[in-house]
Amino acid sequence: MNANLDPVDDLDPRDPRTMSRRQLLRHTAWFGAAVGLTVVGGEVISHVAGSAPAVAGRPALRFAQVSDSHIGFHGPANLDVGATFSEAIHQVNSLGYTPDFVIHTGDLTHLATPEQFDRVKQMMSGLSTPHIFTVPGEHDSTDDAGQRYRSVFGNGTHGDGWYSFDIAGVHVIGLVNTLNLKLLGHLGTDQIDFVRKDVAGLSSDTPIIVFSHIPLFAMYPSWGWGTDDAAQVLSFLRRFSSVTCLNGHVHQLFSKTDGNITFYSGTTTAYPLPAPGTSGIAVPKPLTLPAGKLHSALGIREVTYKRGDQRLAVKDEALL
Ligand SMILES: [Fe+2]
Ligand SMILES: [Fe+2]
Repeated sequence: MNANLDPVDDLDPRDPRTMSRRQLLRHTAWFGAAVGLTVVGGEVISHVAGSAPAVAGRPALRFAQVSDSHIGFHGPANLDVGATFSEAIHQVNSLGYTPDFVIHTGDLTHLATPEQFDRVKQMMSGLSTPHIFTVPGEHDSTDDAGQRYRSVFGNGTHGDGWYSFDIAGVHVIGLVNTLNLKLLGHLGTDQIDFVRKDVAGLSSDTPIIVFSHIPLFAMYPSWGWGTDDAAQVLSFLRRFSSVTCLNGHVHQLFSKTDGNITFYSGTTTAYPLPAPGTSGIAVPKPLTLPAGKLHSALGIREVTYKRGDQRLAVKDEALL
């Protein structure tokens, strides 16, 4: 585990006393949810969520997204998913700054075995960041409705693993729409109610970020690339001036804007999947690319928020 005890950024003094009671409650609820970085994580969250004066030139929030590492996958599409995930971690660690957090948007493992969870957790402990957040993919809950996932990554979350927190004036929500193979692309009434209450007291100028594994927009529902009851959650977010939804699952980049909401599908660190609607494909399967082409289909994402900007800046980078 990377116990990053150094400040997030040596330009940023931390002052937990700047937390509001609401932020403190969120902080307390979240405490322990980051992968083993509890004490350090709590301290950093308290700083970043606080009202420390902005440092000129430094974005309010910078984080990285990785997705679909599928640790445990064996096949010709990627002969060593551990190696490519390690390369992605190294690439995040080489951004030239310490991301405020790293989000993994699911399919951490391929078959949700205890060994695969142990391995991916151990690998992510090498990320140089004070916080690691996750949402589960369907591969992380293949036969137990996510119990093993939550035993490793669900500490401090609500319900089946959903959560929210505040950081740098941004409100972040992590959703679960992969509970089991019969409920793929479904949020359920408990989770929808959580979001309704969660955002009810927020000012409409609060930037919102939503993480989920499966897209919250209808990218290609007949392949399971959509969330059937997402419209209810999105209806609670329509009044906000800036909403950014980041997902995995589709193993390729895609973006779509719908009013105030922009959706960004992220790529994978494991193997590509076919483009949506490719003729003759009923169920998308891993694509084996020509030799030397795999890295260009894999990658990491940087996301930056500057106060006053309407939209977050999203920068996707292929695996080097
Ligand atoms: Fe995946
Ligand atoms: Fe998936």
